[in-house]
Amino acid sequence: MNKLVIGAQWGDEGKGKIVDILAKESDIIVRYQGGSNAGHTVCVGDKTFILHLIPSGILHKDKICVIGNGVVIDPKSFFKEKATLEKVGVDIQDRLLISEKAHLVMPYHKELDAMQEGKLGDNKIGTTKRGIGPCYVDKYARNGIRICDLTDEKTLKEKITKNVEEVNKLCDIYSMNRFDAEAIFDEYKEYAELLKPYIRNTVYYLNGVFKNRKKILFEGAQGSLLDIDFGTYPFVTSSNPTVGGVFAGTGLPHKALDSVIGVMKAYTTRVGNGPFPSELLDDMGESIRKKGSEFGATTGRPRRCGWLDLVVVKYAAMISGIDSIAMTKIDVLDGLDRINVCVGYEYEGRKIGFIPSQLDEFAKCKPVYKTFEGWENTKHSESFEDLPENAKKYVEFIEKFLSIPVSLISTGAKRSETIIR
Ligand code: GDP
Ligand code: IMO
Ligand code: MG
Repeated sequence: MNKLVIGAQWGDEGKGKIVDILAKESDIIVRYQGGSNAGHTVCVGDKTFILHLIPSGILHKDKICVIGNGVVIDPKSFFKEKATLEKVGVDIQDRLLISEKAHLVMPYHKELDAMQEGKLGDNKIGTTKRGIGPCYVDKYARNGIRICDLTDEKTLKEKITKNVEEVNKLCDIYSMNRFDAEAIFDEYKEYAELLKPYIRNTVYYLNGVFKNRKKILFEGAQGSLLDIDFGTYPFVTSSNPTVGGVFAGTGLPHKALDSVIGVMKAYTTRVGNGPFPSELLDDMGESIRKKGSEFGATTGRPRRCGWLDLVVVKYAAMISGIDSIAMTKIDVLDGLDRINVCVGYEYEGRKIGFIPSQLDEFAKCKPVYKTFEGWENTKHSESFEDLPENAKKYVEFIEKFLSIPVSLISTGAKRSETIIR
């Protein structure tokens, strides 16, 4: 059984924890999109790990991890992450494969990301400034530099020189420091040597393991509403976290996926800008942020917090064919008198149950809430039956609204704080 773990909201749903749990019963864990803009937190015992580019499955020492062709790779960030893992005894050697077709994030991508954000002023997207957007731009403009280009110094030098020439024209226009192609070439030549042991034709590798019936777990990054096609464009990332990204980002056929697990927080958060109808700008929002430690794992920015928006989750479920929901952070809602859930929007005086494509229309949508009585404590519940009655009602309503079972409920960051139904 090959499974996909995707975010059903705007990212940071707790995918890292769910991947960590499901990795135990998988053989290979695969990232298919995004890059080091992701921040997946996994708590193992008293240790906390934050994975950015390397699949979260790496923490299980007998598993193989793959960074697929759809991912964009910043070697500097990769080696930093590798060193951090090694410091705490997690060795990635012989267990991590990087697709030779994956594109490289270059130093100028990160600077361009920051420059473009600066140019947008108040309308900025709020990117992680990891160079993700500009790197995918080069990929689709067919100017990108791929991991396989590292193996041929002549090609690498030519491509870097040509790209830096173009980038420096922009630098002149936007008063940025120019880039030195020679220095970038020297830096990446070194990475080429260091990356050699990890580089593979992962398309053939993955199809081979699929044929041999190994269990594959796909680890989505970001969230469905940050999808470049289906998210709240332009306040999105530059890849497809939704189901289609799996096939484009690995080279596996659709038959290689048996089940889709949507990870959903018991409320909603979003980092960066863009519409968020159920956002709480009051004390309640502040209290959820505090209790849920809602600060970005990659940038440390405070996350915007709000009530659970089921219109959003239903939309995400429709696009990716979510088979079951893993609901995280229910414990953060413990102790509240009343809990709201957004079940529709009011748009220009009428009730709608869909997300308008026009961003200014979505921005005008007001949440229509259903209110639930709160509960005391979910923290020590070991089974669904153990949960407080009102928490059970909350979960059952979600299942009914989505017509999808909530098959996992997370009551804390630790592995043990997990109810599997
Ligand atoms: P991801 O990007 O989807 O992997 O999510 P993040 O790691 O960015 O953010 C989720 C945060 O919530 C992490 O700090 C997790 O350790 C934490 N977390 C996950 N599940 C739970 C839960 O059920 N309860 C609480 N309180 N924290 C959780
Ligand atoms: P994980 O995998 C939450 C957001 C950024 C910004 C937008 C574009 O941890 O859930 P980018 O740097 O990708 O060009 O930024 O997307 N964003 C995330 N938000 N979780 C993430 O990853 C995110 N990765 C990007 O905040 O709004
Ligand atoms: Mg995250």
